[in-house]
Amino acid sequence: MARVTLVTGGTRGIGYALADALLRAGEQVVITGTSTDGVMRAEHALATACGDSGRVQGLVCDVRDPASVELAVRTAAARFGGLDALVNNAGVGVGVPISEMPHDEWNRIIGTNLTGVFNCCKAVIPFLKQRGAGWIVNISSLASTNPFIGGAAYCASKAGLNAFSEALMQELRHDNIRVTYILPGSVATGFSGRESTAGAEWKLQPEDVAQAIVDVLNHPPRSLPSRVDIRPSRPQKS
Ligand SMILES: NC(=O)c1ccc[n+]([C@@H]2O[C@H](COP(=O)([O-])OP(=O)(O)OC[C@H]3O[C@@H](n4cnc5c(N)ncnc54)[C@H](OP(=O)(O)O)[C@@H]3O)[C@@H](O)[C@H]2O)c1
Repeated sequence: MARVTLVTGGTRGIGYALADALLRAGEQVVITGTSTDGVMRAEHALATACGDSGRVQGLVCDVRDPASVELAVRTAAARFGGLDALVNNAGVGVGVPISEMPHDEWNRIIGTNLTGVFNCCKAVIPFLKQRGAGWIVNISSLASTNPFIGGAAYCASKAGLNAFSEALMQELRHDNIRVTYILPGSVATGFSGRESTAGAEWKLQPEDVAQAIVDVLNHPPRSLPSRVDIRPSRPQKS
């Protein structure tokens, strides 16, 4: 039976590239995003690319809202008869000094990158346990281990996610549920309001990170790559 993977934030960037890769491999994928337009457009594009609208479902879901997450997870499991993997990819970030950061912005970053992951894990774990096996892959960032000026909220959210992932990995491994966290370096996406990928040739492409995630999901049952760093092989010299 084809694996069923829920990818949060699958409307563009890394999440979209991952959904595309999984669908091209014949798997079943649910993507989420907060914008109805974005979800509909991505669902249509993914279905067209893989030539099978029956294996992809787009759902509007804000990971910050536990009720929205519960509903999306139940809908996804009902549509495909269960869930095998959750990829917590949805994330936001801005480069703002703490002295200038509004409380709302802090809450949005921590609420999406950390509490959002908690919300999704909590909703999905019972379905993975029902299956008797599963994966949770959390998309962190090398910013979690290399903090930078203006990145206090983002770096803290991702450092927290690393610790969350390590603890969850130990909590779930004896249920046959494997937890991995991935730390990408710079990826050429529109993340954090970036408009252009011009001059970003040295960066990772979203497809590179997608490939690392697919490789993890395809690891043999005996092994658990619990943390994966992936970075541009030839970064810009500073
Ligand atoms: N790009 C990089 O350089 C880089 C490096 C390291 C790690 N990462 C991490 O990789 C992940 C993906 O980044 P990306 O570059 O692909 O970003 P992106 O292109 O901006 O895509 C972000 C995705 O997350 C969704 N999203 C945002 N807030 C959400 C929420 N509250 N609920 C549900 N979905 C939400 C967006 O959909 P809507 O707009 O519809 O909400 C979109 O689909 C993030 O966790 C990011 O921190 C990125």
